[in-house]
Amino acid sequence: MNKKPGYVFVWPIGTRIIHWMMAFSFVTAFITSFYEHLLHDHVALGFIFLTIIIYRIIWGFIGPQYATFNTFKLKPTQLKHYFVEKIQNRWRKVPAGHNPASSWFTIWALGVGSVIVASGLLLYGVQEAKGLLMDLNTTHSHYMGLLTMIHKYGSYLFLTWVILHITGVMIEQFWHKTDMVFAMVTGYKKTEGDDTTVKTGLAIFAFTTIFIAVGTYFFVVSSNYNFLTLRKYTNINYEEQHPVFYKSCGDDCHKVYPPFLLPEKSWKRIVDDMDNHFGEEITEANISLSNQASIREFLYDNSAEHSTREASIKTMKSLGNRRPKAITKTAYWRETHKHIPKSAYKDKKIKDKSDCWNCHKDFENGVLDDMLIIYKK
Ligand code: HEC
Repeated sequence: MNKKPGYVFVWPIGTRIIHWMMAFSFVTAFITSFYEHLLHDHVALGFIFLTIIIYRIIWGFIGPQYATFNTFKLKPTQLKHYFVEKIQNRWRKVPAGHNPASSWFTIWALGVGSVIVASGLLLYGVQEAKGLLMDLNTTHSHYMGLLTMIHKYGSYLFLTWVILHITGVMIEQFWHKTDMVFAMVTGYKKTEGDDTTVKTGLAIFAFTTIFIAVGTYFFVVSSNYNFLTLRKYTNINYEEQHPVFYKSCGDDCHKVYPPFLLPEKSWKRIVDDMDNHFGEEITEANISLSNQASIREFLYDNSAEHSTREASIKTMKSLGNRRPKAITKTAYWRETHKHIPKSAYKDKKIKDKSDCWNCHKDFENGVLDDMLIIYKK
């Protein structure tokens, strides 16, 4: 006997919550991905998505009726029949569980979803030098571009899927009038079949997953650096590493610029041209020749070529053969700062685009962290 006449109970509460958590985490992670300073939130949302994807795959094997993969209708003839019937018969009966289109849809979504979370985790280590895989930054930095592409286009593919899915549901709702929209809210589908039941063990599994997903999200957002978001590159003590560099290049006029932000030949052009150092003349009286030589060596040894940090790799890539004298002349810098309005530099607290430390906390300590961008639009 069905609890509600004319309807079948197909989606238990755990399934519904998980469905909406997946939708919510994907959409919000997608939106936050467009903002560098929201990377931390993006990652926290990604962890929800990751937990749900893993859960759904396991659920496909052990879950209740209508959820398991062995009830999926994956034969091409079934898919064809589904669409033919859909077009020919507006009032056809829908199955209680997954129809052929939604069976395929789920398999594809889980596949693409897995690619997104795997590439995201790798990218977090390889590019951002953060999290459990942060050490991959030194060994696998050449995969930065490829991983970014996979992560990005995987997400676009998933988004396309989401749009198709919503379109399909709307057609069901308004053309076939099967009340599909409400099925994922109430759990009931207007069709024939047996109500589903969830065994206690499975219900505990579903609610534990929900708890882990939400818990991980709050764990990540509530602290800057924990074991999931630990950073490889922490503050560099330039004063200790090279006191002459620290004193001469970062005391009187401006703070120190981390050497890894420019290639060797750019530093060479800067040090060779002390008579005209961005409009100032620097003489031996300011920095002795031997100190200049020592600074030069330090800059060369720590230039962008010797670093696998995201900023170094991307700066080098954007430069090609060019070796500009200023960081703000690199294509990478221009690209990452193109959204900042000119008026921002009129702010007394920011002053000039070359005063990086006014917008990037700990800049002078060699840290460029998306979480430490203090400029807010
Ligand atoms: C007006 C404030 C401001 C100034 C000044 C500024 N930045 Fe930024 N910077 C930002 C913002 C905001 C972003 C993030 C843009 C986004 O959200 O996509 C950013 C992003 C970056 C990034 C890429 C993201 C990252 O954290 O790896 C780098 C590298 C960077 N800045 C370096 C510099 C350097 C070097 C200077 C000085 C020459 C500088 N910035 C000056 C505001 C500033």
